[in-house]
Amino acid sequence: MKVAIVTGDSRGLGQAIADKFLNEGIHVIGLSRTHNDTLKEKADQKGVTYSHIRCDLSDSNDLTQGIDKVMYLAFQNDIEKVYLVNNAGVIDPIETVGQLDASLVNKHFQINVTTPILFINRLLKEADEQGVNVGIINITSGAAEKTIHGWSIYGSGKAAINQFTETAAMEQEKAGSEHFIIAYSPGVVDTDMQGEIRAAAESAFADVDKFKKLKEEGQLRSPSAVADVLMKLLSEEESIDNGRVYKLYDLIDQ
Ligand SMILES: NC(=O)c1ccc[n+]([C@@H]2O[C@H](COP(=O)([O-])OP(=O)(O)OC[C@H]3O[C@@H](n4cnc5c(N)ncnc54)[C@H](OP(=O)(O)O)[C@@H]3O)[C@@H](O)[C@H]2O)c1
Repeated sequence: MKVAIVTGDSRGLGQAIADKFLNEGIHVIGLSRTHNDTLKEKADQKGVTYSHIRCDLSDSNDLTQGIDKVMYLAFQNDIEKVYLVNNAGVIDPIETVGQLDASLVNKHFQINVTTPILFINRLLKEADEQGVNVGIINITSGAAEKTIHGWSIYGSGKAAINQFTETAAMEQEKAGSEHFIIAYSPGVVDTDMQGEIRAAAESAFADVDKFKKLKEEGQLRSPSAVADVLMKLLSEEESIDNGRVYKLYDLIDQ
């Protein structure tokens, strides 16, 4: 039996990735603040399970309990493989440095950085104790490698995730483990997050018009198309380059 844990599965890219795993006959455990009825219906159609854990990842107690519940559900007797997709994320605060709100900064790093790190830390421990193979995908962003006005928090959080991915993968290789840990940068995806980006004030985000234009010109990819590219990569697991930050643009014919 294979299980995929997907954080932020209620909408956007996380929903699309969870849906693809269900299509493949892989059980899904989702984690977010909102339940997604469509995923439950898909699971029923496909004869697999979909479990949802309601959790506010910005709250450290909720996160600890959420991780406990996920591990309990994931590690059943006949488990052979666990995927973890660290997808949940926020863009806020979009603001120039000097105007940042401290509580939003803390929330951001708790959701975008602390959550994936603590999930991976716990998953690798459980998996090694129980002799189960894991594949970890951290959803990152091109903003990790670009300097974008107003995105200091988002960009530095994603840069932290890339570095964490590479270090954890190197440690696993050194330990002779067969787990893989990669990051996946999905390009520009038509989700609520892009709506939040377009709603930013130009004083806080100088490139806001560029992002409005991308939407107007139909340049955003659908979450489903972006999830398909990831699933294709996972279907060729033997050629996955452990620790690599994969970019959608490197994986598709443009
Ligand atoms: N959209 C893009 O163009 C783009 C580009 C590059 C990278 N990414 C990355 O792709 C990932 C998914 O983004 P998206 O565009 O799909 O965003 P989205 O549509 O805004 O969805 C965000 C997901 O994260 C969950 N989430 C947010 N805050 C949470 C919290 N406090 N507790 C629990 N769950 C929370 C949401 O669930 P609830 O609200 O139900 O809790 C939702 O399922 C993110 O890591 C993002 O950084 C997106």
